[in-house]
Amino acid sequence: MSLAKQSSGNSFTITPVSDALGAEVFGLDVSSPFDSETLGIIREAFQQHHMLCFREQALEDEQLVAFSTQFGPLEVFPEKGHTKDKIEVYHVANVSLDGEHLASEDPKVVYQRNNGRWHTDSSYRYEPSLASILYGIEVLPDDAKGGETGFSNMLTAYAALPDDMKAKLEPLHQVHSYADIRRLEPSIPPMSVEERDAFPPVTHPVLRVHPDRDYQRSLYFTSNTSLEIGGMTLEEGKALHRWLVDYVSRPEFCYFHRWRKNDLVMWDNRVLLHRAIEYDFAHYRRVLRRTTIGGDKTIMGPFWPEARTAATGR
Ligand SMILES: [Fe+2]
Repeated sequence: MSLAKQSSGNSFTITPVSDALGAEVFGLDVSSPFDSETLGIIREAFQQHHMLCFREQALEDEQLVAFSTQFGPLEVFPEKGHTKDKIEVYHVANVSLDGEHLASEDPKVVYQRNNGRWHTDSSYRYEPSLASILYGIEVLPDDAKGGETGFSNMLTAYAALPDDMKAKLEPLHQVHSYADIRRLEPSIPPMSVEERDAFPPVTHPVLRVHPDRDYQRSLYFTSNTSLEIGGMTLEEGKALHRWLVDYVSRPEFCYFHRWRKNDLVMWDNRVLLHRAIEYDFAHYRRVLRRTTIGGDKTIMGPFWPEARTAATGR
């Protein structure tokens, strides 16, 4: 059901896009900063729907950055050559910054193919991101196949897990490593020593506990970097990943966003996984720009004392 909102002269609607997650925001111009009332409404809708799509926006990079920083400080991207002017603005495209259509084997395109695997952004950081924001500048024509951004809801996916799988996952950690993208996509050039040193591998719990959601749990894993699970052999870890990837792909957890030009999509990396559905890279051009809102916490696992107390009352 569509919800009409009024705040300080703004009149807009927030409409859920699926049973799984997500809402569209119509009638709100995000090119200048929100007043505090509107920002409060948007924050609440974000917490409730996990993904918001603001339609029909006209944004320069500066405005994209200004919009994004209302939700927190921005991350700086770990590799040179992928950003546009400002190092906080990531150029997600099969088109170079000079407008040249890139070959399908160009590393920037291979990165996009790798992001076809379910993942959550910047999980390779000790304090992973809060949210990602993606703005559609050039998008595929309506009749093109693929190109959607898929999302899967890790709160509902966790809740629907069989009890034995919940118990199995409870003590586990996954390794997350930016450099290890190259294991899955060997054609991507190695990182510089400085870049690697800045982002050593980290581990995070496979189940995440959310203090801001009354200690609700969700799944938290990624399948586009390392596939190691602590305490398991690599083969066992890979097998668990395959199971999880199949599981979170179930339609009841998912929503696939079909891009329109000038869409501004923001999603919650704490509770959603996402993936880029492949399209014909050689035939179509696409240009998106991304910012990432940094996180300020390590991931709380179910074995944290605070989480245990919340779960058991002791
Ligand atoms: Fe991503």
